[in-house]
Order: sequence, then structure tokens, then C-alpha cells
Amino acid sequence: MMQSHIISPLVDSDRELLLCFEHLLAERLGLHFPPLRWPEMARQLRRVAQDLGLASLAGLLPLLEQRVWPDDVRKKLAQHLTVGETYFFRDPSLFHYLSDHFLQPLLARRRDSNCRWLRIWSAGCCSGEEAYSLAMLVRQLLPDVQGWRIDILGTDINPLFLEQAQLGHYRSWSLRQLDSSIRERFFTGSDHHGWQIDSSLRDSVVFRELNLVEPVYPDPTKGMSEFDLILCRNVLMYFEPGQIKQVLKRLQSCLCESGILLLAPVEAGLCQEAGWRSESRPGAIAVLPRPAEESPRILNKVAVAADLPSEGEPIDRSLLFQSAPADLRTFSKTRIRGSEQMQQQVGQTLEVVLQQARDLADCGDLEGATEQLQQAQVLNKLDPRSYWLQALLEWEGGRLQPASQLLHKVLYLDPHFVLAHYLSGHIAVGLQKPELARRHYDNCLRLLADLPDDQILPEAGDASVAQCREWLLVSRSTLKSRCSV
Ligand SMILES: C[S@@+](CC[C@H](N)C(=O)[O-])C[C@H]1O[C@@H](n2cnc3c(N)ncnc32)[C@H](O)[C@@H]1O
Repeated sequence: MMQSHIISPLVDSDRELLLCFEHLLAERLGLHFPPLRWPEMARQLRRVAQDLGLASLAGLLPLLEQRVWPDDVRKKLAQHLTVGETYFFRDPSLFHYLSDHFLQPLLARRRDSNCRWLRIWSAGCCSGEEAYSLAMLVRQLLPDVQGWRIDILGTDINPLFLEQAQLGHYRSWSLRQLDSSIRERFFTGSDHHGWQIDSSLRDSVVFRELNLVEPVYPDPTKGMSEFDLILCRNVLMYFEPGQIKQVLKRLQSCLCESGILLLAPVEAGLCQEAGWRSESRPGAIAVLPRPAEESPRILNKVAVAADLPSEGEPIDRSLLFQSAPADLRTFSKTRIRGSEQMQQQVGQTLEVVLQQARDLADCGDLEGATEQLQQAQVLNKLDPRSYWLQALLEWEGGRLQPASQLLHKVLYLDPHFVLAHYLSGHIAVGLQKPELARRHYDNCLRLLADLPDDQILPEAGDASVAQCREWLLVSRSTLKSRCSV
């Protein structure tokens, strides 16, 4: 079987073939498949070959080398190679920010000057959840929406995702972050049969196929310019670094004067490596209009990255402490033992104290946060989360050794604490211990392998197992390319 050839050891002809595919996919789709991801690439390409009725992977190569790909080849590639993880109001803090700090002031200015228009683009929109979330937000902010010209565009490379977007029919899982009042206003249906978007909302969003790597934008004749807001989140993290630079340049050129381009926080490092500066926003990063002139500062989040700040380097704190995911409550419940009521009270207090620590850290009160964490340790010294949060504070301050010792404690108390392995890996990179970093990353990958893709990880904001796996692969392959471990 082809796959067993591809996993190891590779013979030269396999290597050559996979290298050709790697280059072609990077050039034509933007997708980054370094050697560490070759097994995955080969697996997906074999599916493409099978669907196209080809006998082998080698038979696919001449098709991909054609200047214009036949429709069926293009569609099959998009279908098998793209990642379709998304849901409504993904990163709620971003939508709050957009509502209160971007859209409301913008709409008020436009109303005052009687220029009642707004243009939004969700680039890499997948099955449409992001574009529809923006449409819902705008509806909520504009009771007189009829008197406005609102353009909301969703584009993606995968036609199957776009078909679903146009249909506007979703499983409950896509609605998992959705407030029930919003669901009642804009959907009909049930958990059992799925949820259908209200037809007027559906008709207010236009979906179109677009490959971000092709220089077909900006194009004012096709409405691809003058956007107030472009969201391109969790798309570039799969891209080849050279392509990211060009895509960001083209996206920037599609903005109007005061427009903003937002990526996911996890993409800060990639943006920076591509020579663009960014600033953090709640739940996102804004790409600044001009590329960096001097060597860029590191902006980070636990789950990003290949790059670790050196000692003392500032990090965006708001990205570190995200609100606790719901499963933390379940998590803490599992620790309740003995005298039910008493333990329950302690457990509840602990949750509050931990949340306060997060909130204080979010608004920059590090001393206050540290105090809360000490209190949390008095309440339950066996709960790894207080050491975890303290490790983040140390890490944020660039104190890698104390952060590393705290993570040691976390892993002693809970060897399955995925993000502690992950951050330990980053810290080992920063401490110039690549072999140790590799071990942590590999442990992390092993732990993730046993979890379902859509499970949300504790202490990871709303990141799923599938997302963490992707981040980890990026970190792992960067480590490999830099240190050959
Ligand atoms: C993980 S989803 C992100 C969806 C949404 N933006 C979000 O953050 O929830 C990534 C999307 O990027 C799309 N994509 C990948 N390569 C692309 C390309 N070259 N051009 C346009 N879209 C692409 C995929 O099809 C997929 O729908």
C-alpha cells in the first residue's frame, strides 16, 4: 500500500514525489505540507486520486502539473485538503469587541453623515458560520437595517463548504457558542433535525468561491475592494510562509481608509514572520497597514507558536488569560470528595478565585492575580490550574525558569494536562533545549491522539483538540526545521 511506503522509511522516489506535491500545493493552494505532514498529505491525496479514478498517487502528479486544473481536480483537492473547523460566534470576545468598539462607532458616524453603508468580508468562511454571525451582529445593531446598504461576503476555496453555507442548515454543534435568544431570533429547527437560518438573513450574505492565493483581488469591478472589515481567521495558519506575505498584502489592499483586517490570535507569529506587524484585539489580532520595517516584536499566546519570547520581552497579556471554558466546572466537580456540602463550597469558591485571577491578569493587575492564585492554592493545593495560571504569569514576565518549575508541578498533579506539556515545549525552546521541547511536543501529540477532534480543551479558551493538534504540528515542524530534532 502507498501509505506504508510513505510513513517510513521513504525511498527516494517517494520522497521526490511528495516533494513535488508539497511544492504544487503550496504554490497553487497556499497550503503548507512540510515533511512532518507528508503522511497526512499523502493520505488525503490518495483519497483525491481514488475519487478521480486514478490507480496511484503518481498518476495524480501530471494532473496537478497542468497550468489550469480541471474542475473536478480542483474541487477534490479543496474537499480533501482543507480543514473545516468553525462555529457561530467563534471567539465571543471578538464579537463583543466588534460590536462595542468597531461597528457601533462606525455605524454612528455613517448615520450622522448619511452614508448608510457597510462592507464586510469573511475570507476563508468555511460553511458560513462566521459570515452569518457578522450578519446577525449587524442586524442587532441596526434596527433600521432596511435603510442601509449592507454587503456581507463569504468566500472559500472549498465548494462543498460553500454549498452548506448557501443552504444555511447547521448541526447543533455549530451553534454551541450561540446565545439562545440569538438562536430563537435567527433560526428555526431543533437539536435533533438541525437548525435552519432565517431566509432573510440567509439572503443577506453572498457566498463565492475564491482561492486566496490567486491574485484575483482587489478587484473593484467584482466588488472586491473597499471593505470596512475583513476577517481571515484560522486560514493562514495552514499556509506556506511565502504565500502568507502576499495574501496579507492583497487583503490589506481590499480595505477602505478606516478598514481593519483581523486574523486569529494563533496567527500572530505567522503574520510577524511574514513581515507584517499586528496589534492584539480581544479574540483576534489586527494586521497593521504597513509591513514591519524593523525586526518585529513577538506577540504570543500559549497555544501559538513556534516562537517563544526571550527573557523580559513583552507579551500580550489579554491573550493569555481567556475565560474559563464550561468544562472547567465539570473538571472541578470531579475533584469534589468527602463532606459534600463543605467540599462543594470550597470548590465553588475556588472557581470564583481562579476566575478572578484570570480577570485581574486580563486587566493588567498582576499582583492582584498572583494573590488570588495564592488563595486558590490554600483552598486546594492539589488543583493544578492555579500553578498553571501562575506559570503563565511567570512566562509572560519572561521568567522562564520559574515558569518551567511550576509547569513541572502541574504535570506532577495532572500528567494529562495537555497545555502544560505544550507550554513546557515552548519554554524548552526558549531555554535552548530543543530535545526536551521535542519530548514535550510529542507527549502532547500523544495525549491529543486519544481525544475526539471536537472536544474543547480545559484552559485553552474555546480551542478544540483538532485546533491544538494543528498548532502543535506547526510548533513541532518549526522546531525540526530550526534544530533538526
Ligand atoms: C479552519 S477554517 C476557518 C473558518 C473560519 N474563518 C473560522 O475561523 O472559524 C479554514 C478555511 O480556510 C479555507 N481555505 C484553505 N485554503 C484556502 C485558500 N487557498 N483560499 C481560500 N480559502 C482557503 C478552508 O477551505 C477552510 O474553510
